[in-house]
Amino acid sequence: MADNRRPLFAGNWKMNLTLDEAVALADGLKNRIGRLRMVDLAITPSFPYVATIAKRLAGERIAVGAQDIHPGDFGAFTGSVSGVQLRSAGASFVLVGHSERRHVFGDTDAVVAEKLQSALAHTLDAVLCIGETLDERDGGDTFAVCERQLAEALARVNETELSRITLAYEPVWAIGTGRTATPAQAQEVHRIVREWIEHRYSAGAAGRLRILYGGSVKPDNVEDLMAGPDVDGALVGGASLDAEKFSRIATYGSQGSA
Ligand code: PGA
Repeated sequence: MADNRRPLFAGNWKMNLTLDEAVALADGLKNRIGRLRMVDLAITPSFPYVATIAKRLAGERIAVGAQDIHPGDFGAFTGSVSGVQLRSAGASFVLVGHSERRHVFGDTDAVVAEKLQSALAHTLDAVLCIGETLDERDGGDTFAVCERQLAEALARVNETELSRITLAYEPVWAIGTGRTATPAQAQEVHRIVREWIEHRYSAGAAGRLRILYGGSVKPDNVEDLMAGPDVDGALVGGASLDAEKFSRIATYGSQGSA
């Protein structure tokens, strides 16, 4: 973590929790870390809970976002939710290109790019996720895959728009598997991603960009991961469903709030 960037910890709740459970989790976070000053915090509840949770956390320092976005605005797209709708429901940001969207639902790089454009058009901030599969890592293609995903997603994004984007490096083999990338593996990819951004945009843009690590982040490994100078926070799945665990992650593994 570099001094000039504020850490960001985002909890991706995925397709978990009933509405009552989601509200209870939001309240638990509000009590524990709702006023945390040293880091930025964000959560992505399931679509039907976004409006309720956004109201519940109004005035707190926890941003409420969504896990996906449809590129269009309105129309005959049964089952999809658009940026206009998310904005009107109180979301301030969206995840784009999460590996489950890419690998389970078939979002291509081109679709990810369209979703990112739509988020930006509706003044939603975006967390753009990239990352290689185990086969790609074993084949020595980690950097090529990440660079391709970045190049495609950011092809139509200018430097001003980039300031509204956070990147999340999530090796697919580390998501929900309990198998975390080592701090050195995470830092290596983050450094290369930042260099790519510097080359594509500018040193200033690269210096300001936050790059989160995601994949089995827990209270007991977050501190080591955050030691990497290019690791600016975490996108947390499983451990974000527990208010106490996510609060400990947001305080770098410590027990109390800071
Ligand atoms: P995990 O999920 O923390 O459960 O590995 C991370 C993610 O998918 O964002």
